[in-house]
Amino acid sequence: MKITIVGAGAVGASCAEYIAIKNFASEVVILDIKEGFAEGKAMDLMQTASLNGFDTKIVGVTNDYSKTAGSDVVVITSGVPRKPGMTREQLIGINAGIVKSVSSNLIEQSPEAIMIVVSNPMDTMTYLVHKTSGLPKNRIIGMGGALDSARFKYRLAEALGAPISDVDGMVIGGHSDVGMVPLTRMATRNSIPVSKFISEERLDQVMEATKVGGGTLTKLLGTSAWYAPGAAVSGLVQAIVCDQKKIFPCSTLLEGEYGLNDICIGVPVVLGRKGIEEIVQLDLTDAENEHMNRSAEGVRKTNGLLEL
Ligand code: LAC
Repeated sequence: MKITIVGAGAVGASCAEYIAIKNFASEVVILDIKEGFAEGKAMDLMQTASLNGFDTKIVGVTNDYSKTAGSDVVVITSGVPRKPGMTREQLIGINAGIVKSVSSNLIEQSPEAIMIVVSNPMDTMTYLVHKTSGLPKNRIIGMGGALDSARFKYRLAEALGAPISDVDGMVIGGHSDVGMVPLTRMATRNSIPVSKFISEERLDQVMEATKVGGGTLTKLLGTSAWYAPGAAVSGLVQAIVCDQKKIFPCSTLLEGEYGLNDICIGVPVVLGRKGIEEIVQLDLTDAENEHMNRSAEGVRKTNGLLEL
């Protein structure tokens, strides 16, 4: 299986690293517009192969899409990341043009590929690909919920004083500070609802910390995060390539599910070789539905800024 990652920045390189370390793909191509940059990242990563024990071949190319031909999965991380104090939505002007041209170049070389969109504002960039690429909806996947859920589990484990492996939870909705919908009601510690162990007030704090998870890191790092985004992408790619039928919250085109239409937003989906193989409809409470609708309004507002 061949995977292409566009963007050799911190997120793209982390994606490549985690995919390689998991050793399920034969080849990973990293493409960047900056001369020699992807080649350098690929070479550095290949020099970890004997140390980390993987056989995945990593190739770096400067803007040469012919080298990406025949990819099974393509990942778009290109565009500018946010700086401290910025929202993801403020990146739309520059990133929309980049995502549009990158996606069309990728499809020209790999018409059968499944596309994962990571560039921000992610839900709107996923919608843009829907509107402009002609790909069927099962082959366009926005990565946000898998990352936000990982951050939710981190915060839950911290509040519970429990190991992360004992904790489960999911974040749906838009991948933005105000749009995320952490499903605290369904979160569990080894299948026991977390409300058994922590107060509602503490759970609210967990929810708030989760929602600003990316912003907190941007403040600390001076740019947006990369390890967890890279790991989250590698999880989606593995589920597709290995036909795992795993459930992740992903941004996908909704056509009536969750009462929403003509929008890409995070909901649980089953991921397998065909990409999004099923959208899982959860029974939400009125409050959760209202939260989801507010989140959708925010995403629609950003979608309205697209020049389609
Ligand atoms: C974040 C970026 C990748 O949440 O959106 O870290």
